[in-house]
Amino acid sequence: MRRNLADPLWTIGEIVAATGGKSLGEGNARVGSFSIDSRSLEPGQGFIAIRGPNRDGHGYVIPALEGGAACAVVNDTFPSGDEERLVRVADTFVALNDLGRAGRARVERAVIIGVTGSVGKTGTKEALRLALSPSGTVHASSKSFNNHWGVPLTLANMPRAIGFGVFEIGMNHAAEIDGLTRLVRPHIAIVTTVAPVHLGFFRSVEAIADAKAEIFRGLEPGGTAIINRDNPHFERLAGHAREHGAAIVGFGETSAEARLLSAALGPDGSTIRADILGEIVDYRLGAPGHHLVLNSLAVLAAVRVAGADLKAAAAALGAIQAQAGRGQRQIIETKGGPVAVVDESYNANPASMRAALATLGLTPRDAFSRRVAVLGDMLELGAEGPRLHRELAEAVDGAGVDVVFACGELMGGLYAALPTSRQGAYAETAEALQSKLVDAVGPGDVIMVKGSLGSRMAPLVEALKRRFEAESMSA
Ligand SMILES: Nc1ncnc2c1ncn2[C@@H]1O[C@H](COP(=O)(O)OP(=O)(O)OP(=O)(O)O)[C@@H](O)[C@H]1O
Ligand SMILES: [Mg+2]
Repeated sequence: MRRNLADPLWTIGEIVAATGGKSLGEGNARVGSFSIDSRSLEPGQGFIAIRGPNRDGHGYVIPALEGGAACAVVNDTFPSGDEERLVRVADTFVALNDLGRAGRARVERAVIIGVTGSVGKTGTKEALRLALSPSGTVHASSKSFNNHWGVPLTLANMPRAIGFGVFEIGMNHAAEIDGLTRLVRPHIAIVTTVAPVHLGFFRSVEAIADAKAEIFRGLEPGGTAIINRDNPHFERLAGHAREHGAAIVGFGETSAEARLLSAALGPDGSTIRADILGEIVDYRLGAPGHHLVLNSLAVLAAVRVAGADLKAAAAALGAIQAQAGRGQRQIIETKGGPVAVVDESYNANPASMRAALATLGLTPRDAFSRRVAVLGDMLELGAEGPRLHRELAEAVDGAGVDVVFACGELMGGLYAALPTSRQGAYAETAEALQSKLVDAVGPGDVIMVKGSLGSRMAPLVEALKRRFEAESMSA
């Protein structure tokens, strides 16, 4: 977040007090906000030198200070230098956490919301940012800052006078969310859904549910758990929430406190009627897909529990847009007719893959006569991987996908399970698939590209756009 020094977040004295560190700097010298990435550091910010798996931030301290950083937090073994702008601590990672805790402690009036779940965290966090904005100032995590660096950093950068704080909390392993939620201390904790994601690191989906439920351990007294009522693990999650004294609000399609009454799903958004804790709201969601409709119920439930303006929140959701890599759709008018490219290349797992296929199935036939899915491997699924890929055949069929282009060993399993009429082309890698794909599609197609980040599907999106833009009316 950009912040100028007229609106400082910290002083050197406060940083020293929060971290137990030492500095020769002026106690009331001002620091804008913190960054742990020297590449995005702006003048006036504080730089925290973190030792990462590949790089050590201490190597960037001197350039950061030369570039105008207000201070740098460093380990006490760092060579002597500009001591007025250095804060020396025993361990910069501990200091980052201390600053996060201190940032949280000084905000006592705001409603703090934590969001976790197997999919939909960032989307839900962004929807909350939009929905709460009419009711007050919102501080929310940027991008997917949801781990042991992103969460404390977002807390440390939280202004004192806000109405709402929204934090994305993620995990790859058990016990990760536990530590993060105790830093965030949310009043409201949302679990969007539980699905087989990162299954390679867990015994079972139940174990994933237990790990997500760790978010309730950090709830403030009197806090509320907002849980997907339709998920098979609802009772398990609710049991954990009750253990931590939380009030429980379910969201979903059946007998939930935040309940969907009706939804008209369209290719670029949905029109929804819902009962949110007894209040009926009608609204439009500006991004397509049944999965996002469900997420929006959690968002509005949180708005209501937070005491914010529900009607204004619902109205704000019309402005939501799918992000690049996460469902962003571009329609290109070529000389031969329109073609649509849906970019889902940022990531994939069985839940988001099914959601993306179903959303592809919402495209009206009169606008785009052929539905094309370009699919790369879903990674980190462990031994269940092959089965979870093959089982997508049903979702391909359900969405009325006409032709599938596939790459990767795992997607090869799905490809082989498809009827030949649906087989477009297969290659071992995305790179090898590119020319086969680009040559086989054309005007009248809606083409959805999805795979895990490691499957490198984004270049295929770019190649498709390059081809069609060259053939566009304006070219
Ligand atoms: N409830 C849901 N069910 C299935 N898929 C969903 C759901 N919510 C979002 N998705 C899809 O999952 C993908 C990832 O969404 P998003 O980035 O919000 O998730 P995330 O949990 O923040 O992921 P990450 O763990 O990578 O940070 C998107 O393609 C989105 O459309
Ligand atoms: Mg995310």
